[in-house]
Amino acid sequence: MSFRPQPVAPARPNRSQLFGPGSRPELFEKMAASAADVVNLDLEDSVAPDDKAKARANIIAASHDVDWGSKYLSVRINGLDTPHWYRDVVELLEQGSERIDQIMIPMVGNGADIYAVDALVTAVERAQGRAKRISFEVIIETAAGLAHVEEIAAASPRLQAMSLGYADFAASMGMATTGIGGTQANYYMIHEGQTNYPDPWHYVVSAIVAACRTHGVLPVDGPFGDFSDDDAYIAHARRVATLGMVGKWAIHPRQVKLANQVFSPTPEAVAEAREILAVMEEAQKNGLGATTHKGKLIDIASMKQAEVIVRQADLIAKA
Ligand code: COA
Ligand code: MG
Repeated sequence: MSFRPQPVAPARPNRSQLFGPGSRPELFEKMAASAADVVNLDLEDSVAPDDKAKARANIIAASHDVDWGSKYLSVRINGLDTPHWYRDVVELLEQGSERIDQIMIPMVGNGADIYAVDALVTAVERAQGRAKRISFEVIIETAAGLAHVEEIAAASPRLQAMSLGYADFAASMGMATTGIGGTQANYYMIHEGQTNYPDPWHYVVSAIVAACRTHGVLPVDGPFGDFSDDDAYIAHARRVATLGMVGKWAIHPRQVKLANQVFSPTPEAVAEAREILAVMEEAQKNGLGATTHKGKLIDIASMKQAEVIVRQADLIAKA
């Protein structure tokens, strides 16, 4: 810990992010009516190159016409290695409504990528006199993104969230898998004849969480490809929630309620956290920095852990 206090991440629920291709406008009303905290309209990989212009026009129209309610509305632009991204930014911010909250930047490799998009967004916002400042989210999905993750997390005051993009990340790292997240059949250990499947994503998840927590950014887990396997989605989501992530993508509407469940603290966990805070407050009144609760040590760090859970529960209750 530095002498500087750790910055807090934006105070909005980000348990679930529902994606839909910009080229399928018939899905937009359904996305708006879903239980997702964040809606991501996509211009990138779920849209074929010939459909990019039409998808932009669809999203611009939907930013005016669809009632997005209290959803945080994000648009995923194309990567900086494509000829599409500058038009995505310029057209969205010249023609899109002020309802657009956020731009998602995929395939980021370093802090300068964010700086470049920030410069363009700032210029268009000023030229248009837009009242609402667009926020950013980014996807860590390349070896360079992981290598420069902390620099990326610090790159712009617009940055609110950072996701892990499993498929591109695996490809960029040269990983021997075609699965999108989850357990990998060839990543195993054998102990006393029993096969165990450790988590091959642990390091990158923790690297993202550490970079995000250092700079007050929300760490979010990316897609889980096999949308017919709810149990595997839940297992993956619970693991990353344990490591500090606040939410997960839904690439099919059935995954939204799973994410909302996993990333909402249970009533039991909230009750336990409130108890820890009450017991510690009492202990502190008696001049103690540490005490026992249900036979276990609790101290000032336990209060911070309990506050994480209570803060998250309050945030969701308010939304
Ligand atoms: N958002 C909202 N509703 C959706 C939806 C989405 N992303 N995907 C499907 N639905 C709707 C369907 O329209 C259908 O509605 P209905 O019951 O009123 O007819 C219902 O949910 C069931 O859909 P289903 O038939 O199971 O899915 P599909 O074959 O139409 O589409 C996918 C499956 C995976 C192609 C689609 O969900 C999708 O495009 N997901 C997002 C992909 C994406 O954006 N990827 C980029 C990020 S990785
Ligand atoms: Mg990707």
